[in-house]
Amino acid sequence: MIYSRIVGTGSFLPPKIVTNDDLAVRMDTSDKWIRARTGILQRHIAEVTQTASDLALPASRDALAAAGCVSADVDLIIVATSTPDYVFPSTACLLQAKLGIKGCPAFDIQAVCSGFVYGLSVADKFIRSGQHNCALVVGTEVFSRILDWNDRGTAVLFGDGAGAVVLRADSRPGIMASALHADGSYAGILSVPGNVCGGAITGSPFLRMDGQAVFKFAVKVLDEVARETLAQCGLEPGDVDWLIPHQANVRILEATAKRLGIDPGKVVITVDRHGNTSAASIPLALDLAVRDGRIRPGQRVLLEGVGGGFTWGAALVEM
Ligand code: ACO
Repeated sequence: MIYSRIVGTGSFLPPKIVTNDDLAVRMDTSDKWIRARTGILQRHIAEVTQTASDLALPASRDALAAAGCVSADVDLIIVATSTPDYVFPSTACLLQAKLGIKGCPAFDIQAVCSGFVYGLSVADKFIRSGQHNCALVVGTEVFSRILDWNDRGTAVLFGDGAGAVVLRADSRPGIMASALHADGSYAGILSVPGNVCGGAITGSPFLRMDGQAVFKFAVKVLDEVARETLAQCGLEPGDVDWLIPHQANVRILEATAKRLGIDPGKVVITVDRHGNTSAASIPLALDLAVRDGRIRPGQRVLLEGVGGGFTWGAALVEM
């Protein structure tokens, strides 16, 4: 049998940090409110010249270096993003060119905050098919571009960043199980309801959200999909070493761990440092926890995401 394993992780946060106090200067909010409702202390914001593929490049190079690979080893590139460089070509193609690779398939996945889990699951299936050996899976976002900086209800929640993993074919399972879902009837509670038409934007180019509806839906499906994914391996929540939910806000992470009965000390939380970075948040949190020595080889890590669409999914990984 052919399986896939994560053999390297990487991440990148643009250097510019915007604190809650910085936001309080430009809108009617406070550090106290943002900390209490979200757990976020700061976010990183890309320069106007920095695109999603620019953030993806150093994250990818770090992941390749950690895997002991060179760019030429990569035979599949999947980029999860909702804030692509262009309408087309895909951000994956632009990243491929920046990495100096030619020929291998490269495509984007649009599943908003679940995008990385979608990408990981798809790459796992490509590798299991026997047709690919080494996949680069990246989540990268410049969400600061689609925020209405006059809307305190959404602008304080998000940040920019990228995370990446290298997946390699192996005789031992690394990706042990995955599950993906979507329900488009929930499109209205979280969206950027605009498009480019005739040289102008039709609709709105800004993120719109019903925060309380998102909160309730996220906690419910993160519980369900975690149990569904573990059940594929005959496991229960208590069998995981680490839970890495999409880093939306600390209250969602804590509520999810509580419903699953997972010790809060086993939940990787990095949202305080970088806000909600959508598709980048899971690989960012994974990389930070690998690099600080919390996540070690052989441990079981449950990754799970939920986002606009609505989409949701999980992957159980042995590191
Ligand atoms: N600063 C100060 N006050 C604020 C702010 C702010 N940034 N934003 C909203 N408020 C005010 C509101 O205007 C309201 O005031 P009012 O009582 O005078 O009307 C009050 O705070 C309470 O507003 P609510 O929206 O009811 O606050 P809530 O407790 O629901 O918290 C939040 C809002 C943090 C968005 C919460 O609903 C939430 O966490 N939802 C999940 C959304 C999320 O994480 N989305 C991320 C994208 S989706 C994803 O990644 C899965």
